[in-house]
Amino acid sequence: MNDKPFFMRDAWQFDPDREPAPGPDAGLGFNTRALHAGFHPLRSVPDFRSFVPPIVPSMTYPYEQFEQIPDPVYGRTRTPTTAVLEERLAALEGGEACLSASSGSQALFNLVFTLTRPGDNVVTSLNIYGEGYKQAAAIFPERCGVDFHFVEDPGETASWEAAIDDRTKLVWVETPSNPALFVTDIHAVAAAAHAKGVPLLVDNTTATAALQQPISLGANIVLLSITKFLCGNATVLGGAIVGPEALIEDVRWNTTEFVGAVLQPFESWLTLQFLETLSLRMQRHSENAQKVAEYLSEHPRVERVNYPGLETHPQYELASRQMRAGGGMLSFVAPGGIEGAGRVVDNFKLITHAVTFGTSRSICMHPATITHEHMTPAEREKAGIPDGLIRLSVGLEDAGDIIKDLDQALRG
Ligand SMILES: Cc1ncc(COP(=O)(O)O)c(C=O)c1O
Repeated sequence: MNDKPFFMRDAWQFDPDREPAPGPDAGLGFNTRALHAGFHPLRSVPDFRSFVPPIVPSMTYPYEQFEQIPDPVYGRTRTPTTAVLEERLAALEGGEACLSASSGSQALFNLVFTLTRPGDNVVTSLNIYGEGYKQAAAIFPERCGVDFHFVEDPGETASWEAAIDDRTKLVWVETPSNPALFVTDIHAVAAAAHAKGVPLLVDNTTATAALQQPISLGANIVLLSITKFLCGNATVLGGAIVGPEALIEDVRWNTTEFVGAVLQPFESWLTLQFLETLSLRMQRHSENAQKVAEYLSEHPRVERVNYPGLETHPQYELASRQMRAGGGMLSFVAPGGIEGAGRVVDNFKLITHAVTFGTSRSICMHPATITHEHMTPAEREKAGIPDGLIRLSVGLEDAGDIIKDLDQALRG
């Protein structure tokens, strides 16, 4: 290796006192940003007036002059279509900038890989999605020497404070969590992290920016799986982080450039189309999920229902403060453990059993055997994932038809 600097950008230094700059198009309302941010039909593609952002499938971008690196230069770090999507996601989350990835899990990996060195740690809780847990419990500790501290009591700010030490580089919260719908106090955990000079990452995949805006509540970075509600119909696998521009460019040029790609043009373009209806969809998902949650909570064969929009949810007050509505996902406990849950799932006629959520069609999954199977039974217990738990992502169908399907499946 010669002496030429290997890394292309300076490493990001978190400064808890720095005021974030307003995100792109901060003066416009949420629905207007969902339609316009990042693209202007007359100005964005000179000489080619297009109402819809174009798909630019080129993977490389010509140099005009020998010494001037074009931007984009190569499809691993940016493409014109992806740049529109990134600006739009930053605008929706109210963050300075955005970096996409080929999945939500890759976005998480690239972020943690950029921020940590062997001996460092990340503070989180067991209320995280399955593949995130696997990165935290095995991949990073065993392969990178980066430990993850799972806080004892994620509902207590003191528990977060106690877990942060001088090698903590990131605090990571998923709220509401998949699949237990645990709600964490973003404002309180942000204050605890910032007091120790550590940035807060909030995974906003389940609520989306249409219902919750973590940066406005004090978070510094937002993690998104595009695969779920942002796409909304299981046609795109993608992810993103939103945060300070210097961090985003650190991850883009010092990690993504070397280990994997931003979201590709066609998937970026599809996501742009689906984002136009995000707030309408989230409103309808939430209305349907509220009805289904109320129905299930009255059902004699259902032991427990987790949904932030139910007054019986332990963090109902907090959820009402942080979120505009309860969202499209809930979980419930069927009687009879794993076998009982299996019977209910196999009885569904309308609801599909498959591994994802946030789709226009209702979809369910059994976390204890499919996504959270690597947690120990004690960890699953702590994470609110008993053997009978079924995750249900409530779709955009007529709520009565979803309830009828649940009714016959629970009776059968
Ligand atoms: C809350 C949450 N965040 C992130 C991810 C990762 O997303 P992807 O499936 O796009 O890797 C998931 C996936 O299930 C998730 O549930």
